[in-house]
Amino acid sequence: MSMLKTALGGAMLAGLLSSAVFAQAVNDQYGFGTKVDPAELSGFFSIPPDGRGLPPGSGTGTAGAKVFAENCAACHGDKLEGNPAKGIGGDKLIGGRGSLATKTPVKTVESYWPYATTLFDYVKRAMPFSAPGSLKNDEVYAVVAYILSEAKIIKPTDTVNAETLPKIAMPNKDGFIPDSRPELQLYH
Ligand code: HEC
Repeated sequence: MSMLKTALGGAMLAGLLSSAVFAQAVNDQYGFGTKVDPAELSGFFSIPPDGRGLPPGSGTGTAGAKVFAENCAACHGDKLEGNPAKGIGGDKLIGGRGSLATKTPVKTVESYWPYATTLFDYVKRAMPFSAPGSLKNDEVYAVVAYILSEAKIIKPTDTVNAETLPKIAMPNKDGFIPDSRPELQLYH
């Protein structure tokens, strides 16, 4: 009987440990930890290829030209050609299409990235390198549209938003072999 009780107690504790209710109870009882602020939580996101979690907002390449000139060109070059000379210089972002399987591969967003949604995710998360997270969602959409339009994947007047971005077919979308390990199927 006592063994059964111990086993039941263990199972219950395991269940409780994994619950947010328990975390809050510990928080209230022992006074450590803080309540999660939704604004703080919004900094943790991950946009899968199908675009789930893309925020409201939109932009065009035409609008993005200004965002790029002001926030990106210093490191990535006026023509998105990259700027390796300046130490912290950013990568070349366009060009190299079809070059990956040649002797002189040029890896860029245009030639390599399989999903347009990754561009939003990455820019919002990590760029500008010197001030990540400083752009508004409309500015991120616009600068993403600008990069894609300079790469001639979309037109400068095309609107990029949560609905249209996942539908954009990247030039190298078929250049990857799917990884079938089950633990990697996070979004299925
Ligand atoms: C202070 C310099 C700097 C600024 C400003 C900057 N970047 Fe970058 N960017 C970098 C560096 C350095 C990397 C490489 C980072 C790494 O590999 O970890 C990079 C990488 C990138 C990449 C990934 C390229 C690839 O093929 O892997 C993209 C896309 C990008 N930046 C877009 C932008 C956009 C859009 C802006 C403006 C909103 C911007 N960057 C502003 C320095 C900068």
